[in-house]
Amino acid sequence: FTQSIDLVRAATIGGDGLPDTAIDAALSAVETAAGRLASEHRAGALPLLSVPGETGDLAAIREAGARLADGASDVVILGTGGSSLGGQTLAQLADYAVPGLGRFADKPRIHFLDNLDPLTFGSLLERLPLETTRFAAISKSGGTGETLLQTMAVLSALDRAGLRSKVSTMFVGLSEPQVDGGKRNALRALLEPEGVPFLEHHTGIGGRYSVLTNVGLLPAAVLGLDIAAIRAGAAEVVAPFISGGDVREAPSAIGAAVNMAATLEGRAIAVFMGYSDRLERFARWWVQLWAESLGKDGKGTQPVAALGPVDQHSQQQLYLAGPKDKLFTVVTTAARGRGPKIDAALAERAGQADFGGKTIGDLVAAQGLAMIDTFARNGCPVRHIHVDRIDERTMGALLMHFMLETILTGFALGVDPFDQPAVEEAKILAKRYLAEGRG
Ligand code: PA5
Repeated sequence: FTQSIDLVRAATIGGDGLPDTAIDAALSAVETAAGRLASEHRAGALPLLSVPGETGDLAAIREAGARLADGASDVVILGTGGSSLGGQTLAQLADYAVPGLGRFADKPRIHFLDNLDPLTFGSLLERLPLETTRFAAISKSGGTGETLLQTMAVLSALDRAGLRSKVSTMFVGLSEPQVDGGKRNALRALLEPEGVPFLEHHTGIGGRYSVLTNVGLLPAAVLGLDIAAIRAGAAEVVAPFISGGDVREAPSAIGAAVNMAATLEGRAIAVFMGYSDRLERFARWWVQLWAESLGKDGKGTQPVAALGPVDQHSQQQLYLAGPKDKLFTVVTTAARGRGPKIDAALAERAGQADFGGKTIGDLVAAQGLAMIDTFARNGCPVRHIHVDRIDERTMGALLMHFMLETILTGFALGVDPFDQPAVEEAKILAKRYLAEGRG
C-alpha cells in the first residue's frame, strides 16, 4: 500500500499543520523505538512480530473453522474486546457476499456477540435455528464475565432444546493453555467437561494484538478466507522491523512519527476515516488498539472511527470548522469504475447530468480525494493511505501496519503499549454492584 505523508506537510501551508521539524524530530525518536522493537524481538519478548511468518498452526485453524462451518447455517462467536474485534474486521472481507454465489456461497452466516445486551442476545438465541448453529467461545483469560455469561446462557439454551449431548460437536473453545497441574480457567471449566475441543491462545500476545493469531483467523477460516494470505500481507510489513535494517522509509515508522508529532503538537484527536464499508470494523478494531495501548500516564490521543463517504454528511462540519485539534488518516481503495453504472437519461431527468455514465465507485473515488484535499486546504493535517484492493493480503498488511504504528508510538512516548491497568476498576465495581443488586 502507499502512504502519502506529503499531505501532512502540505497542511502546514495554512500555518495550522504539523511543522516539518516536529515530524523529523519524531522520526528520530521512532527510529530509537524501532531499535528497541528489533532487540525485544531478537530476545523473543515480542512473539507478535513472529506470527506473520508462522505457518505451522494454519492447518489446525482451518480445521477448526471447517468443523464449525460444515453443515452450519449460523456460527456465533462469543467473546469481547480483543477477542472479537479482529475477527469482526476480517469477517467484513466477506460482507459483500451474495448467498448462493461466489466463493462464500456455502458459508454460514456469522454473528459476533461482543457486546452484552439482553435484548440482542435473547432475540438472537430465539431466532437462530439451534440445531444448525455452531458456537466459538474466545477468551484469552477464560475469565471475562461477559463471555462466560453468554457461554452459560447458550449451554442452557442448548439444554432446553434437547441438544446437550451434541455440545462437543457444536462448540469450539479458544483460551490460554492450562498451566500444568494448575486450575482450569472458568471457560475451560465450563466447556471441557462437555467434551468441547480447545485451540490455545498465545500466552505472550494480548487480546488487541491477537488478530493474526487463531483468535482473529478462526472466524476468518469459518468463512473460508485465505488465512495464509492474511499472514503473508502482514509479513511484508513487519519484515524491515525484524531484519534490523534501516526503517526510516518504512510506512509504519513514518506513520508513527506523524502520530507522535501530532500528539506533541497538541492534536488530541486521531481520526481514522476509511472509504469502504469493509473498513468499518477495521476502524473499531483500531480505536481499541490505539486507546487501550496508549492512553496511559496522562498521554495518548483520542481515537475516532469515521466512515467515508457517509460521515461527510455528519462529522465533516466539525472536522473542518471545529477546533484544530485533530490528525486525520484517510484510507481509500480503488473504487473508480466499480459498482452499478448510472443511466445517462435518468441522471439527466434528475438534473444530475454529471452522474450520467458514471459508476457508484467513480463518485466514491472523487469524494475521497475531495475530502483529503479539503482537509489539507483547511490546515488540517491529513495523511492518505491507499490500497489497490481490500483483500486478505492487504488487510493483513494494514493490520500489521497499525499495530506497528501503535507499538512504536507507545515506545517513543514512553508508555507500555501492552498493558491496560485502567480497565480493571470498573470491572471490579460492576461485580460488587451485581452482588448487591445495584444498577
Ligand atoms: O485487548 C485486550 O486485552 C482486551 O480487550 C481483551 O481482549 C478483552 O478484555 C477480552 O479478554 P479475554 O480475551 O481475556 O476474554
